[in-house]
Amino acid sequence: MFKSQSSRLAQPTILPDFDRPFGLPAFSSVAEAIAAYDGDDAIYALYPQRIQAATNLFLDQFPGKVLYAVKANPHPAVLKILWANGLRGFDVASIREIDLVRTTCPDAELYLMHPVKSRRTIRHAYDAGVRHFAFDCAAELGKILVETKDAADLHLHLRLALPKGGSATMPLDGKYGADFHEALDLLRRARPVAAKLGVCFHVGSQCMDPADYVKALSYVHGLLEAADVRIDSLDCGGGFPVAYPGMTPPPMQDYFTRIRKGIEIFGFGDLEFIGEPGRALCGEGGSTLTRVELRKGGDLYLNEGSYGSLFDAAQCAWKYPVRLHREGEMSAETSAFRFFGPTCDSLDMMAGPFTLPADTREGDWIEICHLGAYGQAMATDFNGFQSDATVAILG
Ligand SMILES: Cc1ncc(COP(=O)(O)O)c(C=O)c1O
Repeated sequence: MFKSQSSRLAQPTILPDFDRPFGLPAFSSVAEAIAAYDGDDAIYALYPQRIQAATNLFLDQFPGKVLYAVKANPHPAVLKILWANGLRGFDVASIREIDLVRTTCPDAELYLMHPVKSRRTIRHAYDAGVRHFAFDCAAELGKILVETKDAADLHLHLRLALPKGGSATMPLDGKYGADFHEALDLLRRARPVAAKLGVCFHVGSQCMDPADYVKALSYVHGLLEAADVRIDSLDCGGGFPVAYPGMTPPPMQDYFTRIRKGIEIFGFGDLEFIGEPGRALCGEGGSTLTRVELRKGGDLYLNEGSYGSLFDAAQCAWKYPVRLHREGEMSAETSAFRFFGPTCDSLDMMAGPFTLPADTREGDWIEICHLGAYGQAMATDFNGFQSDATVAILG
């Protein structure tokens, strides 16, 4: 779908090693990618250097092992970027995610941290070398034991429900997790059948206050004292935020510092400590490039919408950063716009407001930034609108 791709790749400005970095067509700028595109769909742009920078921050400063939550962006190029940067562990939730990581990074360590899995998924995972399994109730623990034939090498992770009231913009407390009393019972049941036993939790996605992790560690401390059960690992999940417009989380170092202190204060230093960031590793490393098909006053009709990568822009009214791309001049004045996606559904509307040059018009391309996590990953093919165009921007 990219015209003159082969001749462009022959240009000496692009190093041969970077011809198709991570398996993607590569361009030095968004403008170059748009100019080369010959299709009718949106384009997903990945910025490998940004993903690398976010990964380095975690690998250097997070006080434990870092897993990537594949659901945030399962594009093989993202997995390859992370692997090339030294990340070795992946949090997966399904057979397809297991197979995807096994195919893309064959030697990766896989953690199946979904608290509810089909029996087929458990069997498939074990056969694929997965030894880490999450559970949050006795029935799920039983399924894991039966389907792995009481394997002697399981590392079981009890998913806890945390007390309500965190700062996460997207709470994840409505569905999974054992409460305090259930957890006491489950720790005692799981200890004798687990080669290794851990607890895990998730403070909710886009957590705005590092203190939430410390509160969670304090809760785990109380639980373990009451249970009097030895554990081997402690997994603080994901939740690490991205600085979207209108949301200004503290610097990531504050999260690491508070977690490190919590580990010290509550005496968890001997445990294997684990984190499962998704959003924070790839959120700022991806954009959607979408074309304006029609303008009606302050409404822009785009070739991408809520059934594509803009689900959170529509359902949660998130205002992602936007930038206009046009070959010629554009107005210095700005206006506020709403976006409409290409499907027939009235829900396919992103209220914004998004600030763009006042003369934005049909044929212009808009880069919607910070969509590397839970953007392309959530896109559907509803109404025949889908894109398989993903590019790397190396500039
Ligand atoms: C078990 C688990 N781990 C990690 C994550 C990643 O969370 P985030 O993208 O907020 O870092 C999720 C997100 O839903 C999750 O369910």
